[in-house]
Amino acid sequence: MSALFDLNTWSHTRLAEVEAALGAWVTADAPQGVDHGAPAELVDAMRYAVLDGGKRLRPLLVLAAHEAVCPLRERAATYTAALRAACAVELIHAYSLVHDDMPCMDNDVLRRGKPTVHVQFGEASALLAGDALQALAFELLTPLDDSVAPATQARLCGLLARAAGSAGMAGGQAIDLASVGMPLSESQLREMHELKTGALLQGSVLMGACCGAPGPAALAALENYGAAIGLAFQVVDDILDVTADSATLGKTAGKDADNDKPTYVSLMGLDASQAYAQALLSQACTALDASGLPDTQALRALADMVVNRAC
Ligand code: IPE
Ligand code: IPE
Ligand code: MG
Ligand code: MG
Ligand code: MG
Repeated sequence: MSALFDLNTWSHTRLAEVEAALGAWVTADAPQGVDHGAPAELVDAMRYAVLDGGKRLRPLLVLAAHEAVCPLRERAATYTAALRAACAVELIHAYSLVHDDMPCMDNDVLRRGKPTVHVQFGEASALLAGDALQALAFELLTPLDDSVAPATQARLCGLLARAAGSAGMAGGQAIDLASVGMPLSESQLREMHELKTGALLQGSVLMGACCGAPGPAALAALENYGAAIGLAFQVVDDILDVTADSATLGKTAGKDADNDKPTYVSLMGLDASQAYAQALLSQACTALDASGLPDTQALRALADMVVNRAC
């Protein structure tokens, strides 16, 4: 990684823009400026789930991929699409966390350092907040004005739907629940992780890229990069569940063993899992090297963050 690139500095302004946009769009009259007449309690639960917390890794990946494929002079024209895509993918992620924590799934009481949504608002409200966040994600991608080209809107919706649906996050969550107490093979576990977590991370990269106009070689390389960091992210999540504490994670540590979930740590042990995560980081960097893209420093730094993070 270039010694000149500082991820904190790069992230600072982008995170501020994502926070401001999420705060403005997750409201009763979001996001077209039209009062939807949404019940206040439901909107409260949605805002509680989305705002004030989270690493915002997926939005940062969208913005970094957009910058990687778009020369500086062309970025402003497609920035609105990229910012909407960044927020949309975070809404899907937030919804997945709300449902993941519910008693019928992982039954967790702590998320992002706060009581989980169903603990705070009740199960029915948590279910509906997740549903509404998912719908809002697609609303963000289809603004009524002409700020996002229709072809880009369609591509973004398709990418997000595939990443979130039965062949992506929701499918992976179904495998996760069906696998409690089961000794999975490495390839079964990999598939589960690729779907439940990898698909949305890879989707973030591809959504950012599709706001620009990458050539086929660059797109294929970004697909490989996204697959590597997507899997790495869940391998590291499995590791942190064992090695970190709840205060650092902002969620209950040790939950996977308590719930008898198959994880990389339960399958191959801590050392081999850590080595695997580092190997996936190398794969991600190799993919960026092969992309032919001139400006991949943010993507490189985010891959490093995915694998070497503390929470
Ligand atoms: C946690 O994701 C859920 C998984 C997919 C493993 P993050 O670790 O990105 O959660 P936040 O957004 O930072 O809270
Ligand atoms: C969740 O995986 C992946 C999602 C799709 C939300 P985990 O169940 O391991 O996520 P955490 O550890 O609760 O954040
Ligand atoms: Mg889970
Ligand atoms: Mg969980
Ligand atoms: Mg976990």
